[in-house]
Formats: sequence, C-alpha cells, structure tokens
Amino acid sequence: MAIYKKLFFMFCTGLVVIALSGCGEERPPEQTVQKVDKASEGVKKVEEATEKVSKKVEEAGDPEEGKRTYAVLCTSCHGNTGKGDGPAAAALPVKVTNLTDGKDLNAKSDQFLFRIIKEGGASVGKSALMAPWGGQLKDEEIWNLVSYIRTLAVPPYKPS
Ligand code: HEC
Repeated sequence: MAIYKKLFFMFCTGLVVIALSGCGEERPPEQTVQKVDKASEGVKKVEEATEKVSKKVEEAGDPEEGKRTYAVLCTSCHGNTGKGDGPAAAALPVKVTNLTDGKDLNAKSDQFLFRIIKEGGASVGKSALMAPWGGQLKDEEIWNLVSYIRTLAVPPYKPS
C-alpha cells in the first residue's frame, strides 16, 4: 500500500513541476514593449492630473499671503482698505479703482484681475498708471493678490 502512496505522491509532484515550468516562459519582446508603453501612458496621465491640481491650487491663491504683498506694493494708491484712497491717489489724473466695490469687481473674472496685475492697466485698455507687476511678482504671488482682493468686496464675492 505504501508504495502506491509514494508513486502517487511522485506523480503529483511531477504535475506541479510541469505546471510551474510553464510560468517561467518569457513574454515575446513586443508584448513587454506594449506593457511598458501602457505603464508610461499611465504615469503621464497621473503627471498631467497632478499638474492640473497644482495649477488649481495656485489659482485659488492664499489671501493671507496676498494681503502682505498688497500692504507693501498696492496701498500707496489703492489705500489700506482698498478704497482707492492711498496717499498717492489724489495726485493721479486717473481715479484709482476702489477694490472694495463688489458691484464693480465681482463681475470681473479672476483671469481679468490676474492679467491687469501682471501685465498692467494698458494690457486691458485701462490706464498705464496701473503698472505691470509681472516683472516683480511670480504668478503665484499674483494669484494670492487676486484672492485677497476678492475678500475686500462689498457685497461679498461669490465664486460662480
Ligand atoms: C501708482 C498707483 C497704483 C499702484 C501702486 C497700484 N495700482 Fe492698481 N490701479 C491703479 C489705477 C490708477 C487703476 C485704474 C486704472 C483705470 O481705471 O484705468 C488701477 C486698477 C487696478 C485694478 C483693476 C480693477 C478693475 O476693476 O478694473 C486692480 C485689480 C488693481 N489695480 C490691483 C492692484 C494691485 C494688486 C496692486 C499692487 C500690486 C496695484 N493695483 C498697485 C493704480 C495703482
């Protein structure tokens, strides 16, 4: 009886060895290339998504940071509270925009505000006395300013 058991055991082991030897078979190179292509496509998609998200985060801006930059660069004309009544405003031949006027500002897009700050009033057909700040500020800092300006609006700004 024991001999049958031993033979049966050897038979089973043989089957397992045959089955396993199939697994080690190498894939044809084209298949491997396809797999690598697919994987790098996936990586690219993840990279693109990450880029989109970080752009969104940047565009959302940080109003606290924006406030600090505003205090240094913008108050001389736009005033401490944004009403357009800074010490230099009275001497200008153009009315400095009251940034707290929600009725005016809320209708304007973030992109518009970003552009006028970065490229100056002249870039959107307004006075060049609103200077371009793009040479001095990074895009991120400009988005921070936009988000800070949004907090000044009365009535409050509601993003659509
Ligand atoms: C030298 C004075 C001066 C300084 C400094 C200044 N601005 Fe202005 N800004 C103006 C004037 C003048 C206008 C209005 C231009 C017009 O109506 O033709 C204006 C317009 C704007 C507008 C347009 C608002 C609208 O509804 O069209 C924004 C936004 C703005 N400024 C943001 C800023 C920010 C942010 C800073 C600081 C980085 C800044 N400004 C610094 C003078 C200034």
